[in-house]
Amino acid sequence: MDFFALLGTVISLYYLLKLADFVWFYFLRPSDGYKKYQRGPQSYALITGSTDGIGKSLAKDLYRKGFNVIVHGRDEKKLKATVDEIKALREDGIVESFIADVTSSSIDYADIAKRFDDLNITLLINNVGGTYLESKRFEEWSENDHLSVIRWNALFPTLLTRAFLPSLRKTSLSHPVLIVFNGSFSAEFAIPRIPLYTASKAFVHRLPSSLSADERFIAGQSNIEFMYLHTGSVQSNTITEPADFSRPTSDDYAAHIVKAFGSGREEVVPYIGHRIGLTIIHSLPSFILRGALKGEANKLFIMEAKKSKKE
Ligand SMILES: NC(=O)c1ccc[n+]([C@@H]2O[C@H](COP(=O)([O-])OP(=O)(O)OC[C@H]3O[C@@H](n4cnc5c(N)ncnc54)[C@H](OP(=O)(O)O)[C@@H]3O)[C@@H](O)[C@H]2O)c1
Repeated sequence: MDFFALLGTVISLYYLLKLADFVWFYFLRPSDGYKKYQRGPQSYALITGSTDGIGKSLAKDLYRKGFNVIVHGRDEKKLKATVDEIKALREDGIVESFIADVTSSSIDYADIAKRFDDLNITLLINNVGGTYLESKRFEEWSENDHLSVIRWNALFPTLLTRAFLPSLRKTSLSHPVLIVFNGSFSAEFAIPRIPLYTASKAFVHRLPSSLSADERFIAGQSNIEFMYLHTGSVQSNTITEPADFSRPTSDDYAAHIVKAFGSGREEVVPYIGHRIGLTIIHSLPSFILRGALKGEANKLFIMEAKKSKKE
């Protein structure tokens, strides 16, 4: 075989394997991989930022599927309404909750973890995240606003995971435990006007694989799995644009996330429409991509202005 024929075969094989993986992940994989985390007594899923959007849809889906859930929010009334809404979905489940404003600098993480120490938590889903949408220059944001965005997206999930890790590690020695981090496409593509959101999500992107490597450094002491979610546009409380193939509803997206559990992968694009979008974005020349991201930023601010007008 000459060099070019060999090269052609290797390249074809590479793309064939990629296609096979795509078909396997989105069409053929069994959808009950989450059951892996239901071994042992009364499994709990803790989901942060679960009074609205993707987090609330995840809590509802997992509760329906037999997990007990721990929900989290910052507003007492909204949290209680969420607990009641979830409890109504099943008679024999338990719904716990806790309040913490994730932009605060005085969260007692150890105290939160201690409260739930006796529970068999097998899923920790770091979902909370977001940004202020104000069309200001970088230096016009106050120092506190900058710190809040970093706490909201990067520090809260890091320090919450740190607080829960010792007890999750113990649990993982008898049955599987999964820690999930909800990321964003913006971790890979810099959207103008929200630089610290995109930078914080880039931090979150690296965290699961780093923690995974660290957990495996000392063999036999931990069996925790980690997963990063590449999340594109999803209709939620923040993104109020109509749902379509490229933008699923929060309920639809949550169902795809749960379907990805148990896949053993450290990074997933749970929703097929996002996978296709991501492939297209990756293939764009940089000058077109920059223009498209500028357009995205403008759309976000127009959407926010419309929302504020309504309120
Ligand atoms: N939606 C998208 O298009 C999209 C795209 C990429 C990535 N993501 C990521 O997906 C995750 C969920 O986003 P979402 O769109 O579902 O958000 P959402 O609908 O706005 O819901 C956010 C949840 O987080 C809570 N929350 C917000 N700020 C908080 C704070 N300071 N302290 C405590 N809780 C707070 C909210 O509580 P309240 O109910 O009190 O507001 C709500 O429960 C985030 O990490 C986001 O970055 C979303």
